[in-house]
Amino acid sequence: MYVPVFVILCLLFVKFENGNCQAQQMLNKLVCIEHDECGACLSAASHCRWCADPNYNTGAPRCNDDESLVNTNCSQGFIQRPAKPVWNVVENSSLQDMRPNSAENVIQIQPQRIQLSLKPRETKKISFSFRPAKNYPLDLYYLMDLTWSMKDDKETLVSLRDDLPTLLKNLTDNFRLGFGSFAEKPLMPFISTDSRRLANPCSVEEVACEATYSYRHHLSLTNQVSDFIEHVNSSSVTANLDNAEAQLDALVQVISCGDKIGWATHSRKIVILLSDGLMHTAGDGKLGGATKKNDEQCHLDERGYYSDAATYDYPSVAQMYRLLDKYKVNVIFAVTESVKNHYDSLNQLLEDFTYVAKLESDSSNILKLVKTGYEDIVSVVDFHDDSSSGPVKVRYFTDCGVKGRPLIEGTRCTGVEYGMTLNYEAHVTLEACSDFKSSTQTIRISESQLGQDALTLEVDIQCGCECSNSVQEVVTPMCPANSHLVCGVCQCNKGWSGPQCNCEIGDENASAELLAQCREPNATRSILCSGAGDCLCGKCECDWGYSGRYCQCKSCEVSSYNELECGGVDRGVCVCGQCACEAGWVGAACDCPLSNDTCKPPSGGEVCSGNGDCVCGSCECTIAQDGSKYIGKFCETCPTCENPLCIHAEPCVSCHLNTGCTDSCTIGNVNYTVIERLSNTEDPYSSDVMCIFRQEEGSLECEYKYTYSPVQSESGIEISIRSKECYQPTSAMIMTSGLVIFGCVIAAGLIIILAVKSGQIVSDRRAYAKFLKEAQESRRNMQELNPLYISPISEFRLPDSFPRDKND
Ligand SMILES: *[C@@H]1O[C@H](CO)[C@@H](O)[C@H](O)[C@H]1NC(C)=O
Ligand SMILES: *[C@@H]1O[C@H](CO)[C@@H](O)[C@H](O)[C@H]1NC(C)=O
Ligand SMILES: *[C@@H]1O[C@H](CO)[C@@H](O)[C@H](O)[C@H]1NC(C)=O
Ligand SMILES: *[C@@H]1O[C@H](CO)[C@@H](O)[C@H](O)[C@H]1NC(C)=O
Ligand SMILES: *[C@@H]1O[C@H](CO)[C@@H](O)[C@H](O)[C@H]1NC(C)=O
Ligand SMILES: *[C@@H]1O[C@H](CO)[C@@H](O)[C@H](O)[C@H]1NC(C)=O
Ligand SMILES: *[C@@H]1O[C@H](CO)[C@@H](O)[C@H](O)[C@H]1NC(C)=O
Ligand SMILES: *[C@@H]1O[C@H](CO)[C@@H](O)[C@H](O)[C@H]1NC(C)=O
Repeated sequence: MYVPVFVILCLLFVKFENGNCQAQQMLNKLVCIEHDECGACLSAASHCRWCADPNYNTGAPRCNDDESLVNTNCSQGFIQRPAKPVWNVVENSSLQDMRPNSAENVIQIQPQRIQLSLKPRETKKISFSFRPAKNYPLDLYYLMDLTWSMKDDKETLVSLRDDLPTLLKNLTDNFRLGFGSFAEKPLMPFISTDSRRLANPCSVEEVACEATYSYRHHLSLTNQVSDFIEHVNSSSVTANLDNAEAQLDALVQVISCGDKIGWATHSRKIVILLSDGLMHTAGDGKLGGATKKNDEQCHLDERGYYSDAATYDYPSVAQMYRLLDKYKVNVIFAVTESVKNHYDSLNQLLEDFTYVAKLESDSSNILKLVKTGYEDIVSVVDFHDDSSSGPVKVRYFTDCGVKGRPLIEGTRCTGVEYGMTLNYEAHVTLEACSDFKSSTQTIRISESQLGQDALTLEVDIQCGCECSNSVQEVVTPMCPANSHLVCGVCQCNKGWSGPQCNCEIGDENASAELLAQCREPNATRSILCSGAGDCLCGKCECDWGYSGRYCQCKSCEVSSYNELECGGVDRGVCVCGQCACEAGWVGAACDCPLSNDTCKPPSGGEVCSGNGDCVCGSCECTIAQDGSKYIGKFCETCPTCENPLCIHAEPCVSCHLNTGCTDSCTIGNVNYTVIERLSNTEDPYSSDVMCIFRQEEGSLECEYKYTYSPVQSESGIEISIRSKECYQPTSAMIMTSGLVIFGCVIAAGLIIILAVKSGQIVSDRRAYAKFLKEAQESRRNMQELNPLYISPISEFRLPDSFPRDKND
């Protein structure tokens, strides 16, 4: 029966390689034929059917499509079909904050219970929301170090009796307080066993104090603050020798003695541990003879003392972590500076359950510390589930409460505040059937720190057949020994194999006949199970990554989209190493949609805006004329281009900003939703194209930056306005700066003119003064004759002796 099938398969592959479409359709049919068991048959592909008719002995395959089975005379009533998918939201109550006096009615997760089915290689997406409830009950237990050095801290706490309730009321309306104290195991060498100091370990200080104890529970959780203060006031200190105390001993008791402490089922449980000492951990107890491993159980006597402190060792950090996780208790370590490093390193190991803060030496900052510690614990939301034991796998995606942010993979959100609604999506996947039986798996998804309300998934794992469920191991004469009738065929009992069910699995003396059945007929290399598996009683058990009767087929390609073979049950099936894709899908792992729809811009237009090619459902952009690359999901823009999608959306942005229209707005046949998410910081998760819109507002000019979602959801295309910047309009700016420049020029001119003028005046004055001086000087020297001066007047004198005219 198999031999012709494989020959046909081989022939078909040759044809398939040639891209023959009909071959692909035939492949789809042949997916079924290979299988000889009902569960495997129905799991192979959605169109495979199984004939469970015991009288069907035409020799034709029992696993085939509907039509073929009818043609080969399988009675209608015996044709096994895949089970119908189940999707049933059983509980979907709305989120509910705390109502007065009814902690039971708080709902923080919606929905609460869903029934669903999964076939192999199927993924279902489940959306759920989480909103931290206002006024969620808070159980706060004070665990105080009451060794001698903490005496003043106790007094501080008592003095804050009026402020404490005010502060707690500010955090939540429903709080309760409890009180306990710890010191040290009453053992050598941690305390002095001198008989006088045993009864009063403070005798050195010449005061009376209580005998050393490991842990003492004073007051169960109560809403009476006065009771709390009274118990703190009346507690007495004690003393020990070393600087390390029994913090962890006390924590184990506080956490595990639920009844005595009075932890509520629905509450946030916080222990605030005040200490100024280091802590003992596992192993230290052995010094004093407490050799038994800490048993994590409650051992409180009727007076509230830890009675087995001398028997059990201190717990280890790993034990501590398990307890905190199991009982969902958070611890705030309020410790003094000198030992803070020690607790910081503990905090790293117990992350998410602990918070370390510095306590002033007299505890004066204790209230502030409770507030910040509480807020730190509340601000982290994380989800976990208990799916690891079963075949179903869950992946989480979340927006962490940021409206409009795309969901990214992860469970943990920080910075969560009251009133925020966190949207999660759980992807529930069944990768393959481990055995072909129907079963159910219940998965509880809950918040890690509270763990109280949860989303419960009842997953129906559809790996089996109806006939194998109802007809239980019928022994009939039709079947040989060691076998029973299941779904119309004889199936060997557990431990037996072979065509006659007479070969015991593990029997090494298999006959040559059986061994021959593990060899692929007419194959070039005729190795047992193609060298990729073991031959057990004539049947090949294939190694991982191989399949087929002779392990001759490699596994198919895994889709990068959901990490399932051939893209999962909706997209394709694996036929001997090749994916046979469902209609609408192509590609080696059926990863690519056949249609070009995902490449078309939502506002309409060409595939990839005409600037790229649609490859495997997304655009590969070409280079624009100026050498830059087209960008955007639809290659709609380039650094120097106008973006048609921005322009298309602009009227809606304008309308929204000028409050002319509501949140939704329609242009042409496209619906838009405008949301404002002004952050002015870049969103690290976004690779969206930014659009810019400018408008005048009063005397200012404002610039808005917005993005658009690439796909149209129910509410249309989402436009989110990311930033707004306003400044003086450009014309006014030019005017002002023009005036300033003008003024400067004039001023500079005037200064230059003045400078020149005064320079002139000065030099004039100088010249004039010089002139005057020179003039004066020259007047004074007028008489002096220049030595070079030669008078033009020539004077001649007649000698006196010369006779003159008497009349002259
Ligand atoms: C199915 O039954 C019909 C009539 O009973 C018979 O003629 C036909 O040959 C059968 N087909 C096969 C494949 O046995
Ligand atoms: C639960 O109910 C809300 C309406 O209250 C609805 O929006 C939501 O889709 C429902 N959830 C499921 C899983 O059906
Ligand atoms: C209580 O909270 C409000 C704001 O949430 C704050 O203004 C006020 O100071 C707080 N009061 C105390 C006592 O912390
Ligand atoms: C604390 O106890 C002392 C006596 O031990 C008492 O005098 C004092 O009033 C108490 N203080 C408070 C706030 O109860
Ligand atoms: C295998 O066969 C040999 C002899 O043929 C026999 O001695 C041995 O017991 C057989 N082993 C098993 C597991 O049956
Ligand atoms: C295997 O090959 C031989 C010849 O090489 C041929 O005669 C025989 O029919 C083939 N068997 C099948 C099942 O195709
Ligand atoms: C999708 O687009 C590519 C080129 O962009 C084209 O070659 C192909 O024929 C288109 N396919 C369909 C189904 O429109
Ligand atoms: C846009 O919204 C209207 C009603 O508000 C609806 O009838 C129409 O189908 C929507 N169009 C698209 C493309 O979703």
